[in-house]
Amino acid sequence: MSLGSVEIFEVGPRDGLQNEAAEIAVADKVALVDCLSGAGFKRIECASFVSPKWVPQMAGSADVLAGITRVPGVRYAALTPNMRGFEDAQVAKADEIAVFGSASEGFSKANINASIDESLDRFAPVIEAARMIDLPVRGYVSCVVECPYDGAVDPAAVARVADRLFAMGCYEVSLGDTIGGGTPDSIARMLMAVRDVVPVGRLAGHYHDTGGRAIDNIDASLALGVRVFDAAVAGLGGCPYAPGASGNVATEAVAAHLERLGYETGLDMDVIAKAADMARAMRG
Ligand code: HMG
Ligand code: MG
Repeated sequence: MSLGSVEIFEVGPRDGLQNEAAEIAVADKVALVDCLSGAGFKRIECASFVSPKWVPQMAGSADVLAGITRVPGVRYAALTPNMRGFEDAQVAKADEIAVFGSASEGFSKANINASIDESLDRFAPVIEAARMIDLPVRGYVSCVVECPYDGAVDPAAVARVADRLFAMGCYEVSLGDTIGGGTPDSIARMLMAVRDVVPVGRLAGHYHDTGGRAIDNIDASLALGVRVFDAAVAGLGGCPYAPGASGNVATEAVAAHLERLGYETGLDMDVIAKAADMARAMRG
């Protein structure tokens, strides 16, 4: 019996590849996205309009968006930390954008060179400009249980940032266990705080698998009503400003797990396996 559907938001071409030290050719990134486009995802994050000095691997993002073959029904997403990023994403015809904040001050400063409040001030015009052209904006909150600089993170701090992002107009808030320190207990405590301020149907779990507990954390989140999870094919990734962050939870592992539990993902496992092979070949 089906338990209903769960969506996997594929972030491999962005969150996965951004962390690779060796330069990956735009053509290889395009091939990966094109392969993923046939797997049944509704949303694929494949670009990031950030400073190339901060994240050199994402410098070719406009070329990636120009080179892919867009499949109807798939939204191709890009990170945009500020108005400059928004303008570049608009020119490149990203189908949706994302602003990315943090629940901890230490990571906020290290990742985007701003305090939490400063970052929210920067996001406001981005979200407003996107609203004017009907471009959906997703909001990320990083370090939802643990920060590599500040240690344990209070669930109330996560709820505060998630609440602000949602109130500002983000259609969904993705909760990032950036360094994979979460456990089913700490993830559940965090989610219960966030669920009080943002409807659970507007939340996504974004769990890195550093501690090997991402699948357990997804189970804890499913039990609390979360039905969208970010994952990266082949478990690519990490974050350049979060020392110790290993890859995102692997898409193929999450999809297989969800299907075993009785959820529908709408994904073609053979295509995902092929994309995972491509992703592994790209990894240095
Ligand atoms: P800043 O130095 O404070 O900003 O950086 P600035 O406005 O002073 O600009 C500095 C330089 O960057 C200038 O160039 C700007 O033109 C340029 P310069 O004069 O030195 O030659 N610049 C840009 N270039 C291209 N695109 C732009 C842009 N903006 C400014 N949009 C800034 C602030 C946000 C730009 C910087 O800190 C940055 O780019 N950070 C990005 C960090 C990043 O991408 N991290 C990884 C993504 S987050 C993540 O992975 C977590 C997540 O997966 C969830 C989770 O796992 O928790 C989402
Ligand atoms: Mg991430």
